[in-house]
Parts: sequence; C-alpha cells; structure tokens
Amino acid sequence: MTAIVTVTPNPAIDHTIFVPNFSPGKVNRAEGERFDAGGKGLNVASFLKDFALEDISASGFLGNENKELFERYLEKREIRNEFVSVDGKTRTNIKIIDESKGEITDINFSGFNCTARDCSDLKERLTRLAKTHRWFVLSGSLPPGAPDELFYEITILLKSLRLHVAVDTSGEALKKAAKARPDIVKPNLAEFSALAGISNPTEEAIISGLKELLKSGVQTVALSMGEKGAIFASKGKFIRTIPPEVKVLSTVGAGDAMVAGLVAGENIGYSFEERARLATAFSAAALTKLGPGRTSRERVYPLMKDIKIEEVRT
Ligand SMILES: Nc1ncnc2c1ncn2[C@@H]1O[C@H](COP(=O)(O)OP(=O)(O)OP(=O)(O)O)[C@@H](O)[C@H]1O
Ligand SMILES: [Mg+2]
Repeated sequence: MTAIVTVTPNPAIDHTIFVPNFSPGKVNRAEGERFDAGGKGLNVASFLKDFALEDISASGFLGNENKELFERYLEKREIRNEFVSVDGKTRTNIKIIDESKGEITDINFSGFNCTARDCSDLKERLTRLAKTHRWFVLSGSLPPGAPDELFYEITILLKSLRLHVAVDTSGEALKKAAKARPDIVKPNLAEFSALAGISNPTEEAIISGLKELLKSGVQTVALSMGEKGAIFASKGKFIRTIPPEVKVLSTVGAGDAMVAGLVAGENIGYSFEERARLATAFSAAALTKLGPGRTSRERVYPLMKDIKIEEVRT
C-alpha cells in the first residue's frame, strides 16, 4: 500500500506579478500575473504524484475565504483533499518580479489564526486517515495560533499507531518534533545547526550532532546542504551524496523533493543507500524543470546513476 498523507498547516497562495522597471512610490504597469497554490507539504504531494505514486492525500489547514485555488489544484493533480477548513484566509505571498533589473520584491501577508479547536480537528482528521495510510509527511511552518508542539503531538499520535512519519520543519517546531522519534527528519544546514546547537558547522560538529539526533530516537536524518549535496545518517550508517552538476532553473522545493524521494524509496523497498540516491535524484530533477512532471520516473531514474556516494568517516 502506498497511501501517503502530506500535512501542510501553513500553506500560502503565491501571487507572482511581473512588472518591468518596478519603482516603489510610482504608478507601475503589470505585464502579467499568476497564482499558485504553495506549501511545502503540497510540493511533496505533487512530487510523489509526478513519480506516479497513487493514493496521495494532502492535509493541513486552509482558510475558508480563499480555498478555491487549492481545491482546483488538488483536483487537477488528483491529490485527495483532506484539508481542515478554518476561519479566515490562507496567507498570500506577493512576489513582484522585475526581469529588466533582475530584482524580486516580496510582500507577505499574514493569514488565518488557528484555534485550539482547529488543531484538535486536524488531529482527528489524521487519526481517521491513519486507518488507510502508512506514511505521514509533516512539512513547513506552523500558522499563528498553533502551538510549537503541534508536529510533536501529531508524531506521537501516529507513532503510537505504528505509522511512519517524516518531519521537515524548523526552529522550535523541529526541536519538539524530533523528540517524538519520527522516522525521518530532513533539515537543511541552518535548520540542523539550530536544532543541534552548533554555531560553527565543522564536519566534526555535524557528525556529532547527527549521532545525538539518532541517539534520541530519530531513525533517519537527511541533512541537506544545497549544492554540496546531503548527508544521510541512520543506525551507524553515514553516507554523503554529491549531486550531479545540473543547470538550475529553480531551487524552490529542492528540499521538499528530497523528502518525497526518501518516502518514495521506502515505498519501493529500497535499501538505505538506494533511498539516499533516489532522494538526491529527486532534488536534482526538481532543480532542472518547472511545473508538473518535475520528478517523473523518466527524469529521476537516469539521474540516479549520476549521483556520487561517499562514505562519511565517523
Ligand atoms: N544549487 C544546487 N545545485 C545542485 N544541487 C542542489 C542545489 N540546491 C539544492 N540542491 C540539491 O537539493 C537538495 C536539497 O536542497 P537544500 O539543501 O537547498 O534544501 P532546503 O534548504 O530544505 O530547500 P527548500 O526547503 O527550499 O526546498 C540538496 O541536498 C542538493 O542535493
Ligand atoms: Mg527545506
């Protein structure tokens, strides 16, 4: 059974506006715009669909007042909509792109506030989904009003039901969730350094931080380091993957693709090393294409052989 749920508590509408020679304080003419359903768990769900895994559900919170964009997106991508509706609007992030100057201006709205009731509704929904799903991917930031413990509590709940949990978040939410013994955490270097209390991330400090994290009960840590690749650590096994040199079109969601690849690899029944390779191939595939189909099997499988693997001395 594939059956994966991604959980995005704090999604966003990405509103991109193209304005040549954008000048603040002046009247500007927009040449075009686009609206995209954004959110890290949604990215993971989308990458899993690209890889032709069926039975993918997306959950989290959506504001009642502007959920149509997400509903349409999920329908189009054939991802089951298991979001909990909450009062208010999902936040919008505006990006003003001025291609003539190569500048991007960001204007970020804050969105809905979560109530304690909303959080218990989400846990109830996930408990129901636990009957028919094996993997849960908890991604991204938490919305205002949600306690830092939300991912911790969800992980405890799902682990008590003997299900698999991957966590990709930051700050306090990550610190707390890591204590609930998730199967996978995928911090980037900044997130990992904050989690492990490392101020100077030397190789030695990183390895010792990884060991600590494994000792605390996390099964697999995927520490991603942008163009330098990633270190995968699990039960005494430490390997480094070095991505192929590729023409990067967008780095958005490279980390989310890695999470999707790790979960997909487990579903295929891959070994630890094969999963690391697949996850790194997912990221490389995501970097080199825009829109749907980024992590299709035809794109990902050939990239796997281009990834170098090194043992990390511990
Ligand atoms: N510029 C790049 N060149 C080659 N590979 C890259 C590059 N950026 C990212 N990658 C690949 O993608 C993986 C994940 O990227 P990164 O460490 O930037 O994740 P992240 O910061 O969690 O990203 P996000 O959360 O924005 O999706 C890396 O381990 C690497 O394999
Ligand atoms: Mg990330």
